Amino acid sequence: MITLPRSILVVGSGGREHALVRALLASPARPRVICAPGNAGIAQDAACFGVAADRVDDLVALAQRERIEFVVVGPEVPLSLGLADRLIAAGIPVYGPKADGARLEASKVFTKQILLKYGIPTAPAEFFSEVPPALAYLRTRKIPIVIKADGLAAGKGVIVAQTPAEAEAAVRDMLAGGKFGAAGRQILVEDCLFGEETSILVVVSGRDYVILPTSQDHKRVGEGDTGPNTGGMGTYSPAEVVTPALLQRIDAEIVRPSVDAIAAEGIDYRGTLFVGVMLTPEGPSVIEYNARFGDPETQVVLPRIANDLLALLWVATRGQLAGVALVTLPIQALCVVIAARGYPDAYPKGEVITIPAALPAGVSILHAGTATDSAGRVVTNGGRVIGVTALAPTLRGAADLAYAVCDEIGCASKYFRRDIGARQLARG
Ligand code: AMP
Ligand code: GLY
Repeated sequence: MITLPRSILVVGSGGREHALVRALLASPARPRVICAPGNAGIAQDAACFGVAADRVDDLVALAQRERIEFVVVGPEVPLSLGLADRLIAAGIPVYGPKADGARLEASKVFTKQILLKYGIPTAPAEFFSEVPPALAYLRTRKIPIVIKADGLAAGKGVIVAQTPAEAEAAVRDMLAGGKFGAAGRQILVEDCLFGEETSILVVVSGRDYVILPTSQDHKRVGEGDTGPNTGGMGTYSPAEVVTPALLQRIDAEIVRPSVDAIAAEGIDYRGTLFVGVMLTPEGPSVIEYNARFGDPETQVVLPRIANDLLALLWVATRGQLAGVALVTLPIQALCVVIAARGYPDAYPKGEVITIPAALPAGVSILHAGTATDSAGRVVTNGGRVIGVTALAPTLRGAADLAYAVCDEIGCASKYFRRDIGARQLARG
């Protein structure tokens, strides 16, 4: 018998963290769950403390003051700043990799070097820190071509250039124009992959791992996958394009070799490894690693797991994941993100949001960029505002349920995509 922790701190303030808080509160162990900094919706479920997710020292102090026995970290920034290292040094177990593991997300050059070194399928790429050799290399490659800033750039550091001029401009912007600051001091010029993307979330504990249910995200802001990339406008799970046979192939060719490669590099990884996979005609290929749960993937993946999430994350953290089996529920989940119009560029904040008091069975509302104003009203406080997640026996049923609730949510600059799940729905 393992003893589960009784007090948990969740770090972050998005829909992903709201989903984590709900799932941890649902544990039969009935833990106390607090969140920092949280949002208006999380505050309805758990006590929130106004410590920003990048204030590592203050988060450690908060965990100590509140006698926290387990910390679950949502976003990548605190991980890459070494929050896990600091908590471990303070004797507090944490789910989420140390800074060495978080580099898999924080440095695209580091990740590409690992992928190439261990022969894990990925697009061919070269690294550059000077403009002339990058331009010379560009002339030897086909269009479209992908230009990536090395460091964290909140999802904006990737340009899929459709013309040579666009590719050249991206190279100059990043290397000479300082467009992404230090994150763009080094770039990757990478061949373009074609196919559908899928998000493979893996709970990793050293060399042991469990693959969570599959999902697909809609990254572009506009319907029909048009417009700029965002953090994600909606998801569904399972991703039926990933058949059981394909998942086995992804496991054998990508997940197992990735987990082994990370361990072989001397990284003791305990946390979620999120593998962005492109399903190309030649087979699955790695687009990126993230060192955390996906947002909004988490909102559709967690409700499809029958296991106690607290126990799962805890045994992964303690190095006791071997032999744990995942139990997946045969249900379809779909999440629609409601954003503030203008996102991912400039958008208004502080608009009052009205949410229906009663929700149909199977629907949950998870907050992202929301806050409470001085009059106690819930107001917008970010680009992605709220997610509506629905569970149903069919994807069509889940979409109908979610969209009925989206239509009832009031907010002056409400924007959402009407076509979440469209590709899978069209496959029938
Ligand atoms: P990343 O920040 O690495 O997730 O990249 C953002 C998005 O750019 C991905 O979700 C893909 O849609 C796209 N992307 C990145 N690399 C490639 C590639 N080699 N080929 C095609 N699309 C890509
Ligand atoms: N939804 C994509 C991500 O979390 O990176």
